[in-house]
Amino acid sequence: MATKRSAKRTKRDKVTDHNVTNGNVTNDKLRALEGFRESGADEMLTTNQGTRINDNQNSLKAGARGPSLLEDFILREKITHFDHERIPERVVHARGVAAHGYFRVYEPLSRLTKAKFLQDPGAKTPVFVRFSTVAGSRGSSDLARDVRGFAVKFYTEEGNFDLVGNNMPVFFIQDAVKFPDLIHAVKPEPRHEMPQAASAHDTFWDFISLMPESMHMIMWVMSDRAIPRSLRMMEGFGVHTFRFVDDRGASRFVKFHWKPLLGVHSVLWDEAQKISGKDPDFHRRDLWEAIEGGAYPEWELGVQVIEEADEHAFDFDLLDPTKIVPEELVPVQRVGRLTLDRNPDNFFAETEQVAFHPGHIVPGIDFTDDPLLQGRLFSYTDTQLIRLGGPNFHEIPINRPVAPVHNNQRDGYMRQAINTSRASYEPNTIAGGCPFQAGAQMGGFVSYPERIADAKARRRGEKFFDHFSQATLFWKSQSATEQDHIVQALRFELGKLETAAIRERMVGMLANVDRGLAEQVAAGLGLPAIPNVEPPLNRSIPADGNPKDFEPRRSKPTPALERSAALSMANTVKDTAKTRKVAILAADGVDTAAIDAMKKALAAAGAMAKVVAPRGGTLSGTRGIKVPVDFSLLTVGSVLFDAVFVPGGTESVKALTADAMAVLFVNEAYKHCKALAATGEGIAMVPNHTGADRGRAKGGTLEEGIVAGGDGDIARVAAELVKALARHRAWSREAKGQLVPA
Ligand code: HEM
Repeated sequence: MATKRSAKRTKRDKVTDHNVTNGNVTNDKLRALEGFRESGADEMLTTNQGTRINDNQNSLKAGARGPSLLEDFILREKITHFDHERIPERVVHARGVAAHGYFRVYEPLSRLTKAKFLQDPGAKTPVFVRFSTVAGSRGSSDLARDVRGFAVKFYTEEGNFDLVGNNMPVFFIQDAVKFPDLIHAVKPEPRHEMPQAASAHDTFWDFISLMPESMHMIMWVMSDRAIPRSLRMMEGFGVHTFRFVDDRGASRFVKFHWKPLLGVHSVLWDEAQKISGKDPDFHRRDLWEAIEGGAYPEWELGVQVIEEADEHAFDFDLLDPTKIVPEELVPVQRVGRLTLDRNPDNFFAETEQVAFHPGHIVPGIDFTDDPLLQGRLFSYTDTQLIRLGGPNFHEIPINRPVAPVHNNQRDGYMRQAINTSRASYEPNTIAGGCPFQAGAQMGGFVSYPERIADAKARRRGEKFFDHFSQATLFWKSQSATEQDHIVQALRFELGKLETAAIRERMVGMLANVDRGLAEQVAAGLGLPAIPNVEPPLNRSIPADGNPKDFEPRRSKPTPALERSAALSMANTVKDTAKTRKVAILAADGVDTAAIDAMKKALAAAGAMAKVVAPRGGTLSGTRGIKVPVDFSLLTVGSVLFDAVFVPGGTESVKALTADAMAVLFVNEAYKHCKALAATGEGIAMVPNHTGADRGRAKGGTLEEGIVAGGDGDIARVAAELVKALARHRAWSREAKGQLVPA
């Protein structure tokens, strides 16, 4: 029977099969997951008990028009399961997307750590990586202004190591005890649950304006880092200082970094807001499509290593998660590469059920006493107990280590292991003492024996109180464009506040970071002067604390570091057009030769082109050649692309110039400083330029990022467009772009 059905496989069956077998199954984790995959292809419909179902259309009734019968076990089972499909979303980082891949170290790191997965350049360690936003619900937009989670689960032969980081290297708070306050403040307000996935509201800024320790992180979240162009184009950071431990037991401090090979790039805030309407799944789709298309996202793992002896050599405290270690002081060594090469088969089973935990570590890696990290070590298992419904979530396929698991933990909801031993305790004789402890030489985990001799106290290290030096360092390290975007972001966020006093206190607080910054924000908000913040500046003070002890103090960084190049996206990699998306704007009568040539040139550069037209279907181009339309103008906007090309063709350009949506499409691309290309009559579509420019454009570039030429110049225009794509945006046009109605 099954063989007979195979001959008649439907298209849908094949799609399912593709999903089951796409990507490679060459790593241990993917092989382990194979046994859990189920496609239903060539199979009959059954109940959960395996009984074949004959009628999935009608419930069992007393007669054709009679009441349904309780006896209908098929109906009851189906509806009951449906009723229980949802689980609680993550309390933070609810919105996310994930992919499988592998990590490979460049050279053995035995000089730093004994972690086995960091020793063999020939070995591929399987990984599962989940990216997320923090504040929004599971269904919120990808383009919210927010921190992005960057969580990597390494399935190593010594157990799972989770590097649960963010795309920003610092955090809002210094101590875990403030985390619920921070999250309550940023989440939608309790009275009406507004706004969704946004920090631009009173409770968030009320809290922040009282917390000078947040000011460094505020600089990052108000920068364009908070609105990435792609998850594939953002950095990742472990944030906390961790330890590497070598096989002699020596420890060094380590900061983890992920450096994207495509560089760090962002969109504009105006663009982000429009993308949220046109395609709220923009980042999710981008990641999925890149992996399906074989353009596997890649990052290098970087480490900053600090000797134990240098623990106190800096003006900041290594245990303070609101501080970075500037790359000028401790360079980042690139030690390996992460590649994502397979999409999940099932969002819920993998992406939703994966459980990360900064406490999942392996021998060779250890914690420090960072008070934020210490609190996190408690939080993740605790939250997963409720989110995933009990203590056995480590048995869910995506969470199982590839390393074998043996212990005397037993029972609990949804237990899957059938533990056969009579002894569920240790020591025992009945089971020969098994499972037994592993000596350090056998890979047993031994905590680093850090010396601690101090009084128990609810306090922070002295250097934690320098809340502004690194916020200022970040601000000063930004390019003029980046600074302008931070000012605009603050004007937007504070401009949305209902309570004037919060807005004013916040501007006063910003003056401690940089007076010029505060003045610009104040001007945009219509404040005549920078308001004075009523002391104490820091309201995060114990009931019996002396406010003087908690006032921020600024230390002079030594060696004096005014700027750090690594903090500016202006200095990122800008050498590739790979995976960039170009819209070819066309209508009937379009120059088909130009489309063909442009598509070929972009494909050769690893970029892709999509034809966008006033309607769907097929266009009739020059020489009667048919051009399939990828998207109608109704379904997309130029905000979903990196560049726009308008080919010539008298009729095509005539139709496009008369179409308000087509005009808006190009104007928005101009306003957002994107690369624009036009040939022949197409140049008439470029804002601020007319067909008369065509002659002058023979030389190539009309202004930064805008290339044009005659019909015969397509090869040169395409080559210039590829270069402009690699530069990401032409920021020099931004002021002019503001004058374009879009
Ligand atoms: C005391 C401070 C923090 C606490 C208590 C905390 C707590 C949590 C909780 C409860 C979750 C949801 C986990 C789940 O349901 O599976 C979560 C997710 C996450 N947290 Fe934290 N967090 C803290 C700070 C941080 C910091 C500083 C970072 C970055 C270094 C971070 C990165 C993440 C990421 C990336 C996720 C999403 C993991 C995933 O993709 O499933 N968190 N956090």
